[in-house]
Amino acid sequence: MNKDHLTLTDTAKLFINDKEFDLPTTVGSEDEVGIDISQLRNKTGAITFDSGYGNTGSCQSSITFIDGEKGILRYRGYPIEELAEKSNFIDVSFLLIFGHLPNKAELERFHFQLTHHSLIHEDMKKFFEGFPPTAHPMGILSAMVSSLSAFYPEAGYDADVELNIVRLLAKLKTIAAFSYKKSIGQPYVYPRNDLSYSADMLNMMFAVPSEPYEVPKVVEEALDLLLILHADHEQNCSTSTVRMVGSSEANLFASISSGICALWGPLHGGANQQVIQMLEKIKNDGGDYKKYINLAKDRESKFKLMGFGHRVYKNFDPRAKILKGSADRVLSEIGVKDPLLDIAKNLEEIALKDEFFIERKLYPNVDFYSGIIYRAMGIPTNMFTVMFALGRLPGWIAQWKEMRETPGARIYRPRQIYTGETKRSFVPLEKR
Ligand code: ACO
Repeated sequence: MNKDHLTLTDTAKLFINDKEFDLPTTVGSEDEVGIDISQLRNKTGAITFDSGYGNTGSCQSSITFIDGEKGILRYRGYPIEELAEKSNFIDVSFLLIFGHLPNKAELERFHFQLTHHSLIHEDMKKFFEGFPPTAHPMGILSAMVSSLSAFYPEAGYDADVELNIVRLLAKLKTIAAFSYKKSIGQPYVYPRNDLSYSADMLNMMFAVPSEPYEVPKVVEEALDLLLILHADHEQNCSTSTVRMVGSSEANLFASISSGICALWGPLHGGANQQVIQMLEKIKNDGGDYKKYINLAKDRESKFKLMGFGHRVYKNFDPRAKILKGSADRVLSEIGVKDPLLDIAKNLEEIALKDEFFIERKLYPNVDFYSGIIYRAMGIPTNMFTVMFALGRLPGWIAQWKEMRETPGARIYRPRQIYTGETKRSFVPLEKR
């Protein structure tokens, strides 16, 4: 197969009954081969059927590479392990969005922009007042991001695109922290320009007017690591949602707001909250984790081991590997002993040896250990998915920007196989 980047090379052959059709192929820079079916319906009248899009490439992208079999994750070619060890979240955000690691001047400018756009319009504070204290912060986050389009109405792909990207990156953490303060009834803490991105977020969440507060270094570093590990993950549910909505040329804020909603679900970003709730349930039920392994194996029970399994990773999730190591370190440095960490490790150990999980290639994913670290940092469970959204934001923005910059990009519009009633006549009410 020709290795040239994204060129149409060899052809695949498709036989329908006796007829033969040639389909061009496309090859990625890591030798990933796609069969180009864009003309399939025109040529054959047939479409492909792929429930859940497990085998469907929806775009060509040069942002993130994943090899699920080998447990590889790279942003713009850089291995996640190296970025986790040597980089920081702002560096990684720039890399994802603009395609290269920033030099010193670029990084300083980016940091300056991100600090100087972190305030939200004072009128937006009134929106927070309208939510009940029990509102889930993901609902608030999504509504607030969508509301940004009322304050910056020109947020399409125009001359201001870079400014709006910076605004969104800078303001999301303020919105996230304000939604937390609102939920606990404390006064809002405004962003500070002298702090790093992660320290500022933590300061806005945990500082109170009555006493001095300094963000512990270990907590700041742990958050930065978590944000880096979540920053992009190619065409997952929320990212595809951002692209889908953005493909109609909906503005940046509307597109990202839809991604936040998609992330919220328990099968996606919401799993980090579910993992902790599951571990707590096991602990309160006497800590018998083997019972829950058996429950997960029982197809009738509908119980799933949250934080286990992944559509793409079929060997290990490299992010989970990094976080497992980090969980021990962070908890011991913060001085927290969490029985849930022991339950999680026991669950993992047993599951990895169990035929059910081995056969189905089910391994811990990024959410399995992230919640334990968030807990140790003092972040409440219902804020976990918000932290995920904060990390994923640069990835969503990069993917949205790439889509808008792709020449000839079309609105997303999948087909379907209709299985409903065939044509029938309307029945008047009295005859039904
Ligand atoms: N516990 C028990 N069994 C599981 C689990 C699990 N966590 N995950 C998958 N399985 C089983 C399925 O029941 C299925 O079994 P079967 O073949 O006997 O029917 C088999 O493994 C294949 O699973 P699918 O659901 O078909 O896999 P899919 O790729 O569609 O789903 C997903 C992947 C959604 C992540 C799934 O593994 C899951 O629900 N995991 C728990 C939720 C979770 O942790 N989500 C976070 C994912 S990471 C992220 O989004 C950041």
